[in-house]
Amino acid sequence: MRVGFYGHVRQYHRIRKEIDAKLQEVLESGEYVMGPMLKRFEKELADYCGTKYAVGVNSGTDAIWLPLLALGIGEGDECITTTNTFFATAEAIWIAGATAVFVDADPRTRCIDPAKIEAAITSRTRALVPVHLYGQCADMTAIRKIADKHKLFVIEDNAQSIGARGNGFRIGELSDAVSMSFIIQKNLGTFGDGGAVVTNNPEIDRICRRLRNHGSEKRAVHSMGYNSRLDDIHAGILSAKLPHVDEWNSQRRTWAQRYTMGLKDARTFRLPCEMSGFYHVYHLYVIETKKAAHRDQLLKHFTDNGIDAKCHYPIAIHQQEGFPWGKAARIVGPIPESEKNAASCISLPMFPELTAEEVDYVIAKAMEWDKAHEAEVSAS
Ligand SMILES: Cc1ncc(COP(=O)(O)O)c(C=O)c1O
Repeated sequence: MRVGFYGHVRQYHRIRKEIDAKLQEVLESGEYVMGPMLKRFEKELADYCGTKYAVGVNSGTDAIWLPLLALGIGEGDECITTTNTFFATAEAIWIAGATAVFVDADPRTRCIDPAKIEAAITSRTRALVPVHLYGQCADMTAIRKIADKHKLFVIEDNAQSIGARGNGFRIGELSDAVSMSFIIQKNLGTFGDGGAVVTNNPEIDRICRRLRNHGSEKRAVHSMGYNSRLDDIHAGILSAKLPHVDEWNSQRRTWAQRYTMGLKDARTFRLPCEMSGFYHVYHLYVIETKKAAHRDQLLKHFTDNGIDAKCHYPIAIHQQEGFPWGKAARIVGPIPESEKNAASCISLPMFPELTAEEVDYVIAKAMEWDKAHEAEVSAS
């Protein structure tokens, strides 16, 4: 059996009629940039998120640095995040011209550890940029308290967790703005690049709209900006998919539960942790080998058996060659949890269109490897 890592084409086949109808509507409209489909999708997305505004932009990366710019954050300012994330989180802070300050991750969720944030705050700190990693929200209640105490902005990097909830909070409720990514791998993905800024703040909405369109709020009137628009074709695809996102997330949770039941007796690796009261949407189902040396062996075992497993992310940002490429960066304290995660993580196939047979096959192959290597863990 072969088990792929993504189910993009299966998903397209399941809702082909809805996607094709939206594509045709855009093509027939004659308006492909800043047209009616973009407006419609922005309204649908804001309604889905329970926020006042959604601004479609070109990527999830732009959706982080555009609100930073809108808040006046730039050179000399510091933004606190974690190295245990996709590179773009830090890259966006640097694109805004600010200093990226890195603290360690929570040992359970691998999201930013709020207990490590205060030690990193200086008079230059302007914003916290937590990432809702793998489909689970960071501890926004704790993060909001710190932000209030130190008068900081909060931008949530929500590339990975559309539809997730925390214990007593929704994404977007406790921050100034939320960034979303719609590349195809995400829980809501288009067939290309796309992103959005979601916010309740009218000024962030207004400035991001201006910045994404060559600094223009009115035809032929410009100020300095960029070209970061979400095309209507992508807005149409996303508009067709959005009504399915909750059902797809729920299906991801079903597969996650099946993995967790099937793998619970494993001795050589740990399973992901869903925090009490949180609604994890399993963008990724990430296991961690107890011995770092086992990671590549287990990955190879999966590959040898036709299973496409991956690592998110095998090289933490501060461990990338050339870091920080002349950009301003600070690492506060040791960051063993981020480094441990980078050395030992494996993401199992996770997408709504998996079949029970595929999930069970992955479980069987993982447990086969575990049995063969459990003595090495007990011995160490
Ligand atoms: C955590 C995180 N932040 C930011 C991004 C950047 O999104 P994009 O690739 O759409 O620019 C991604 C996507 O890969 C991501 O996973």
